Amino acid sequence: MSREIKSVAVIGGGTMGTGIAGLCAQRGHKVLLLDVSEEAVEKARERILNGRPPAVDEPEKADNITFGTIDADLAQIANYDWICEAVIEDLETKRALFEKMEPLRREGSVISTNTSGIPLRDVTEGLPDSLRRDIAVTHFFNPVKIMRLMELVPGEDTTPDVMDALADFTGGVLGKGVVYAKDTVNFIGNRIGCYWMLSGLHYATHALENGVSMEEIDALMSGPVGLPPTGLYGLIDLIGLDVMDLVGKNLAVNLPDGDAGADFVALPVPIQGMLERGQIGRKAGAGFYRMQKLDDGSRKTEVFDLTAGDWRDFRKAQLDDAHGSLDVLFTDDAAGRFAWQIMGGTLCYAADLIPEIADDVVNIDRAMTWGFAWGQGPFQMLDALGPTRVIEKIEAGGGALPKMLSVLKDAGAETFYRNDGAEFLGRDGNYHQTPPE
Ligand SMILES: NC(=O)c1ccc[n+]([C@@H]2O[C@H](COP(=O)([O-])OP(=O)(O)OC[C@H]3O[C@@H](n4cnc5c(N)ncnc54)[C@H](O)[C@@H]3O)[C@@H](O)[C@H]2O)c1
Repeated sequence: MSREIKSVAVIGGGTMGTGIAGLCAQRGHKVLLLDVSEEAVEKARERILNGRPPAVDEPEKADNITFGTIDADLAQIANYDWICEAVIEDLETKRALFEKMEPLRREGSVISTNTSGIPLRDVTEGLPDSLRRDIAVTHFFNPVKIMRLMELVPGEDTTPDVMDALADFTGGVLGKGVVYAKDTVNFIGNRIGCYWMLSGLHYATHALENGVSMEEIDALMSGPVGLPPTGLYGLIDLIGLDVMDLVGKNLAVNLPDGDAGADFVALPVPIQGMLERGQIGRKAGAGFYRMQKLDDGSRKTEVFDLTAGDWRDFRKAQLDDAHGSLDVLFTDDAAGRFAWQIMGGTLCYAADLIPEIADDVVNIDRAMTWGFAWGQGPFQMLDALGPTRVIEKIEAGGGALPKMLSVLKDAGAETFYRNDGAEFLGRDGNYHQTPPE
């Protein structure tokens, strides 16, 4: 059976629900948007028209959306092809909603849940087979209309035509970059991205003890390695230490035994202190950085010096040639060792997570470039560094080779991609055609 999505019922009109509803409406599709109360619905309508950014580019496109409440209007889902659940991140709330919707939706409709951390198998446990066949996770990123990545995750019983219908609509109509992930904690992007951030905070603590400044850490972790200009501390200021703390706690419970990330789930002690003081990042006005307004009306940036435990003026880092490119991972000084630990560590982590979180290098690279704005994905970076050189460095340090580097070595291959990216190295040790984006 092939299914086609032309209309969408979004349940939950918060950050994600309004983003998804707005984007579908903007592309000319009929949308139903339901929330718990008239007040919540009004808030959703306001967000779609006047949010930052508005969810529709042209206000009249919002006319494609019919608004209603779950209590009064849930039966209307029978008229829609895709039922997209985007309510609060609470297992019982999501399960109760699916139970209520199952007898109401029409046969052939597809269902998705937007969760960042709840396993799909927990959401569907004990629910009817018909639902288990028709449901997948659609993990959009915020803001929905701007972020390209959408991770699509099947459950054990999800049928291929459901995956195809969701991929065709979110990819073809909504313009998302679809990546196929598995039902594992944090899926792909956040699993690797959070490892980079949490392990990074720990490695950076050692680097600070060895004389590398916070500004140097952020400078090293941006342009030279092809990551966004926020670097490490700047990105965590944007996300918020409160969120990072919750992410770490969720990982502590859900990472598989023996996962390398388990060593980093708790924030380093000085940073824990910042969290306790409410110095959690931009939304609190201060995190690792803050802007100070001076008497003459000008502004200056200050950095919270973790070594001194106090604020001081921001000093722009100057990186020389040895620290200005990806090759910094091979530079033998405190800054280079830090770069190897955080970035090399993350590349190795990613290379060890196939097939656990994704079937191939392409899905991982796309998740990191589309979801985290990395200039290159982990395997593209390994190719740029030279996988053989990386293998030698790991082996010289007495470390075990991550799975995909072993595959590459055993296959006698030199890179993960060849023919300008047209082919990628599979975990069977053979090259395969790279699927179109
Ligand atoms: N915000 C993000 O960056 C982000 C990114 C990816 C995934 N997610 C996931 O998407 C889902 C929605 O997140 P969000 O950020 O839009 O949340 P939100 O808090 O902005 O919105 C949640 C919506 O659920 C509604 N709601 C509350 N209780 C309800 C109930 N009992 N029944 C039905 N609806 C109820 C609220 O009125 C609200 O409109 C969550 O599972 C979240 O983990 C969020």
